Amino acid sequence: MIAQLRQQVLDGWEKGADFFDERWGDQGDEFHHGVFAPAAERMLGLEHGSRVIEFACGNGGFARRLGRQGMRVVATDLSPALVAHAERRTETISDQAVDVGYQVVDATVEREIVNCGGPFDAAVCIMGVMSMPMLRPMFGGAWRVLKPRGIFVVVTLHPAYATSGYKFVKSEQDNEPHGLKVERYLSRYVTHGVTNTAQQEPQIYFHRPLSELLGDAFSAGLVLDGMEELPAPPQPMEEAKLIWNMLPEIPMAVALRFRRV
Ligand SMILES: C[S@@+](CC[C@H](N)C(=O)[O-])C[C@H]1O[C@@H](n2cnc3c(N)ncnc32)[C@H](O)[C@@H]1O
Repeated sequence: MIAQLRQQVLDGWEKGADFFDERWGDQGDEFHHGVFAPAAERMLGLEHGSRVIEFACGNGGFARRLGRQGMRVVATDLSPALVAHAERRTETISDQAVDVGYQVVDATVEREIVNCGGPFDAAVCIMGVMSMPMLRPMFGGAWRVLKPRGIFVVVTLHPAYATSGYKFVKSEQDNEPHGLKVERYLSRYVTHGVTNTAQQEPQIYFHRPLSELLGDAFSAGLVLDGMEELPAPPQPMEEAKLIWNMLPEIPMAVALRFRRV
């Protein structure tokens, strides 16, 4: 069952790799570079030269961002096609030498993470956990490759709002969304969704309540010492890439900072 789900996830990202690489470009879409990456950076609070491991790096936008700031990064992803895009984009940074390397790693397999070496000052995973059928191996792997007191920042769609069984509530006058109706949250389940409106084939997502996500981290020996709830960047309806842009009072994402103790 898990093997089948893994294969489904891998097939989805491999098939969509060219589409996503083009959409994300060098630094990610406006959600990524406008909201998720700055939040991750704030929570990481890294010093120049820090060693960082990234899980689910996609085409490497955040790894390059850290590399340009002088961090030494090992960026990993399940999809060989996305890793190839990440490598190509990193080779073409001609203005500056960056210390960023890529590896194909399944973050749901603890030993693959441990094989990346270490110790690292920090680990980061942006918008990856919704694609993973289980999280305990990633937290366990992070614990094993982090230095004592090392930090692990996870930025994910908000489990209470954005991966729950929600519906947008729209106003009758102009059909514009003004809220959310959440109908399902506490049980874990598999769902499908798109990351932007141009996406033809939905991705597979794994919903789990926040308590379960945190519980997996705690059981691996990590503690939570920081949290930010993140709304989408506000935008008028006609320019909005996803309806979330219309709901600045509802956090579509959450950034969590764990520490190895
Ligand atoms: C929404 S993308 C996020 C990419 C990047 N972090 C970003 O924010 O632009 C999700 C990524 O998770 C990766 N992924 C899915 N399952 C994974 C797994 N088990 N291990 C590592 N990466 C995985 C996918 O290949 C994809 O690159």
